[in-house]
Amino acid sequence: MNDKKTLKSIEIQNLSKTFKIDGGNFNVLNNISLSVNQGEFLSIVGSSGCGKSTLLRMIVGLDRNYSGNILSYGESIKGPRVDRGMIFQEARLFPWLTVEKNIAFGLSRRVSNSEKKELVHKQLELVGLTSFAKAYPDQLSGGMKQRISIARALINKPKLLLLDEPFGALDAMTRINMQQEILKIWEKENTTMILVTHDIDEAIYLGDRVIVLSSRPGTIKKIVPVELSRPRDRSGYDFTCIKSKIYDEFFTKVENPFSYNI
Ligand SMILES: Nc1ncnc2c1ncn2[C@@H]1O[C@H](COP(=O)(O)OP(=O)(O)OP(=O)(O)O)[C@@H](O)[C@H]1O
Ligand SMILES: [Mg+2]
Repeated sequence: MNDKKTLKSIEIQNLSKTFKIDGGNFNVLNNISLSVNQGEFLSIVGSSGCGKSTLLRMIVGLDRNYSGNILSYGESIKGPRVDRGMIFQEARLFPWLTVEKNIAFGLSRRVSNSEKKELVHKQLELVGLTSFAKAYPDQLSGGMKQRISIARALINKPKLLLLDEPFGALDAMTRINMQQEILKIWEKENTTMILVTHDIDEAIYLGDRVIVLSSRPGTIKKIVPVELSRPRDRSGYDFTCIKSKIYDEFFTKVENPFSYNI
């Protein structure tokens, strides 16, 4: 029996997706079954074009044209909702709105003006950009813009946050800082996080589990649990072992690259 405690944040059952291109069928995802616990941090890695963004779009409710089921707390996902947020690779801010108006944009109309001000202020504090409330997006760096889009996604207190390569365009240092900020938010708010990334290090550093997808059509090739205490040591032995396990899924091992037949 399903009671509230056993219901999953996300339950994907036998999901397959086909695009029609030029009258032909283009199979992108094949028979994906996966469940994600409330408050879990799930990372997904896979080669370019294997269907990761397509999968996130279906989970958030932007694409309902698939076979199989996607449930959230036992109910079918019928479309986007404010308690399911998504952060895209690029910041997607409105250039004509100030930072505070961008953050407030997704807020429910039922929220009063004073409440709105307080919520926006709280989000600005969380992402460390209070002094930029009145700035416009083109006055911000790439990392700052991405922090604003994170603040905008978080203002409705989503129970689920989907992150599609959110730090891909950032330099290494900003990327590490953003990973820390996402972890702080996750720990504080108990949000379920599903992160798509090309960076295996990032997937292990953040995730409770790493899902490795095969190349197109994407299927689940391996599920790697990351049972390491936090904060994690990226250069530690156990971390490196998990990393090599995931790399092995992408690259064929050469038995002994230094052995020659002379
Ligand atoms: N609207 C669409 N119509 C037709 N084909 C599409 C559409 N959207 C995506 N595809 C195709 O589906 C496949 C998967 O696309 P998707 O964007 O999900 O890949 P991805 O795993 O996110 O890749 P990347 O890592 O490069 O972002 C690609 O081959 C793409 O061409
Ligand atoms: Mg993608």
